[in-house]
Amino acid sequence: MKRAWLNRASLTGLLLALGAAMAGCSPRYPMDTLSNGSDFARRIHGIYVFVNWIDFFIMVVVLVVMFLAMFWYSTREGEPGEPSTVTSDIRLEVLWTAIPALILVAITVPTIRTIWATQPDHWPKDALEVKVIAHQWWWEFRYPQYGIDTADEVHLQAGRMVHFSMQSADIIHSFWIPALGGKRDVVPGQINSITYTPDQLGEFYGQCVEFCGDSHANMRLRGFVQSKDDFDAWVKHQQAAPVTPESGAAARGAKIFADAPCAICHTVKGISGLSPQYTGNFKGPDLTHFGSRTTLAGSILDNTPENLAKWIQNPDAIKPGANMPTLGLQGQDLNDLVAYLESLK
Ligand code: CUA
Repeated sequence: MKRAWLNRASLTGLLLALGAAMAGCSPRYPMDTLSNGSDFARRIHGIYVFVNWIDFFIMVVVLVVMFLAMFWYSTREGEPGEPSTVTSDIRLEVLWTAIPALILVAITVPTIRTIWATQPDHWPKDALEVKVIAHQWWWEFRYPQYGIDTADEVHLQAGRMVHFSMQSADIIHSFWIPALGGKRDVVPGQINSITYTPDQLGEFYGQCVEFCGDSHANMRLRGFVQSKDDFDAWVKHQQAAPVTPESGAAARGAKIFADAPCAICHTVKGISGLSPQYTGNFKGPDLTHFGSRTTLAGSILDNTPENLAKWIQNPDAIKPGANMPTLGLQGQDLNDLVAYLESLK
């Protein structure tokens, strides 16, 4: 009995694999590596396209030769084939060694040029400096030029070179915003850096790409590339002290924040800071302008009062292994605290 080579199981497997591969092309999954939001990304993309054209050309040549050989030299029924008597051909061997070698050189030269071009050892004085500190499982972004300390959402200025210098507060992580190109491991005990000029306005998704424990997949980030005016406004806003609420739920929440253990790990400028007596080796995100962020908990949830309440009630259910403890706050207290944090615009 003849067996269909493409049975139902293999067809299903093939379709699933195709579906998974195609998912990378959907705008619903904004981790697109083919976007070109910076000079760095465009250089990498250029090599990618170039290598693909070479691959395509080789594929066409191989297929054409293969089909020619199949149809041209196949023996027909009743016609005995004449076996080849060629055992070696020095010209052929030189040819099929030289051609791949030349192709490799053609790929190596632009690759090495790109590596050099994307690893500058100096950058202009007016480049934006961003210090990235990776924590299990969130990203701290400090702007030493502006005295800003924020988390999970990094704001950049379009057309202005940014120099990220990266450190880890615990174990190895890896920083990556695919659309802006460039991926860099963040290794304890050393400073790694990456430099590029983003030039496409918008919001870009990022993700830690080095397995770093239970909530590695929950260690996400957002990059916001803004016009100069918008970026300047953001800086000004971040530098200002948040408005201290005078009355109502937010004012009660401020008191809860200061009295609960929140203030041991989290800073709100002018109100609390990392307690000097505290000797734990982790800190929580600076919450000075928490209400102005679009996401929370490692950029896995939209920043809404409902999500914030869920997060405070049971951080471990949202981000397994999170250092944020369950405080047992409920009802009015929880609502007041949420109102306060959301008021920190
Ligand atoms: Cu941090 Cu994976």
